[in-house]
Amino acid sequence: MNTQTILQAQDLDLFYGENQALKAINMEIPERRITALIGPSGCGKSTFLRTINRMNDLIPGVSVRGKMTYRGEDIYSPEIDVTWLRKKVGMVFQKANPFPMSIYDNIAYGPRIHGIRKKAELDQIVEESLRGAALWDEVKDRLKKSALGLSGGQQQRMCIARALAVQPDVLLMDESTSALDPGSTMRIEELMSQLKERYTVVIVTHNMQQAVRVSDHCAFFLLGELVEYGPTQQLFSQPKDKRTEDYITGRFG
Ligand SMILES: Nc1ncnc2c1ncn2[C@@H]1O[C@H](COP(=O)(O)OP(=O)(O)OP(=O)(O)O)[C@@H](O)[C@H]1O
Ligand SMILES: [Mg+2]
Repeated sequence: MNTQTILQAQDLDLFYGENQALKAINMEIPERRITALIGPSGCGKSTFLRTINRMNDLIPGVSVRGKMTYRGEDIYSPEIDVTWLRKKVGMVFQKANPFPMSIYDNIAYGPRIHGIRKKAELDQIVEESLRGAALWDEVKDRLKKSALGLSGGQQQRMCIARALAVQPDVLLMDESTSALDPGSTMRIEELMSQLKERYTVVIVTHNMQQAVRVSDHCAFFLLGELVEYGPTQQLFSQPKDKRTEDYITGRFG
């Protein structure tokens, strides 16, 4: 790959108790590109995504072997500050999860936790983050209104703005458009393409057209294994593995 690797899995295994959900994953994720994870339900896509910001740590009984590095640092080493990691590696979920507070306070939430108090500074972060998530023009006159009053698509873009507000480096998106109508999905896809100018984006999607439309690289998972990984165009036009071919042509999953 001709760009710098930002995230690298090396022989990464993950167990939920006895059950192995990731099997010896080796994968280099390039900086400022969109990488899509595809594969049938239960194959380990969300699990893999959560290893990147150690969200799996919150699940009892999880054990990890092997390595995941972020900019060369092993994120499972004891020296890693998990709060720092999660600031660098933000996450947007399948279902928008606005906090029951104003739009402004949703966006300012993270920066406040990280110690930013000055109103002028917060105002600027809120505006920049909402602009970054292509939502500013729609909400600039109602910042003090409840975020719960936004439409589903707006709520999801607000969650993206909230993730951007702490100045992450990597953005993880787990099926972030699956609950949205086609128009909102299109807006978020356009947004992803803008975001990759500044951020590394890793998405999980069940929508193969979406993977083709937005991603630069694509990884096909099956039963906890990374079956195939490469440039998206190549993976979809000339899959190397029969299982990839069967999946993308709709023979299973
Ligand atoms: N919290 C958990 N505790 C125990 N097992 C889990 C947990 N989360 C996931 N698993 C198991 O790990 C495997 C991978 O699940 P994961 O959620 O990563 O799949 P996925 O590819 O994201 O699927 P989907 O497309 O349905 O979201 C599955 O066998 C699942 O049952
Ligand atoms: Mg999942």
